[in-house]
Amino acid sequence: MRFASKKLKKIEVAKLIPARGEKLRRVIASFVTLASVALGTAGLCAAQSVIRPGEPWLDHHGQRIQAHGGGITVWKGTYYWFGEDRTPANDPEKRYVACYSSRDLVHWKFRRQVLVLADPEHLGPHWVLERPKVYANPRTGKFVMYAHLDDAHYKFARVMVAVSNRIDGTYNFVKSFRPLDEESRDIGQFVNDDGSAYLIFESRPTKGFFLAKLTDDFMGVEKTCFIPAPLEGGALVHYGNLYYVVGSHMTGWRPNPNVYATAPALTGPWTEFKNLAPPEANNYDSQSTMLVKVTGSKTTTVIFMGDLWRPKSLWDSRYFWMPLDMDHGSMQLPPPQPWTLNVKTGESAIQANGK
Ligand code: GAL
Repeated sequence: MRFASKKLKKIEVAKLIPARGEKLRRVIASFVTLASVALGTAGLCAAQSVIRPGEPWLDHHGQRIQAHGGGITVWKGTYYWFGEDRTPANDPEKRYVACYSSRDLVHWKFRRQVLVLADPEHLGPHWVLERPKVYANPRTGKFVMYAHLDDAHYKFARVMVAVSNRIDGTYNFVKSFRPLDEESRDIGQFVNDDGSAYLIFESRPTKGFFLAKLTDDFMGVEKTCFIPAPLEGGALVHYGNLYYVVGSHMTGWRPNPNVYATAPALTGPWTEFKNLAPPEANNYDSQSTMLVKVTGSKTTTVIFMGDLWRPKSLWDSRYFWMPLDMDHGSMQLPPPQPWTLNVKTGESAIQANGK
């Protein structure tokens, strides 16, 4: 809209210049053209209030959002989306994490590439940095990024930690380690209602994954629970009186039916895992990365935040966000449809006409 009003101002100025005959006609014609551009822009803004799973999602510059395998951090009433920035023009020797901000989880402003890192552990040309997550530490005032760090063969199996003084500032690499001395591949992020922060990490040799509370300075972890299910893309939410954990099976970039379990406490006991969607739907080709809880004045919506991977052109991978159907211990992922979200009331609505 700012763009449209600027254009209109230009025209107002043009109208003040004495114009006769052809010149006047041209001024009127360009006014009409630009007014329709303004209206068109308004229409576009309205259309973009809708979340459309699987379709290209643009930032405020009209660029494709690059935040794959991402996470959402809430800071001072604003949502920040961090994720893998796979822009083809990036330096192939470096790995990038981009940061976007939003007040409504629909319109995203590109802040910057907050991490631009050259192979910090000398893992070789195809080294891997995936699934970055950022935690805001109220005690230290620092922002702490965790990400999966690996070599081309996924044998290094560690997390890396990078720290910044500002949420969208530059994150400096501090260290890499194996949480709880275990191999760690896919990671997930969870912040509980009381502010306590957790890392979820998949650990292949144990045939399961861990929930691990971050230490007070967020620079390490302590064990909360081990869940004996070999799942990755781990995500967690507290809803009603239950914790719900979600994960995908280990099929690399290929999608599979994601599953969930519930427990009354983070330490368990956890139920058996059940399908999040009819298994033949194959999770609508998506893989979990996070569960985002939006509590508003009227209700609470839990969003399944997933990736639709395109391994041959990772930059072109899409996002799959849908509100989950939650009901006393059951959690179901609806098929992809356009939907709207009101973060103030917490309400979400699937578009009746699919538009
Ligand atoms: C997926 C994982 C991705 C990436 C990929 C590589 O299972 O969730 O983050 O590691 O495997 O094959």
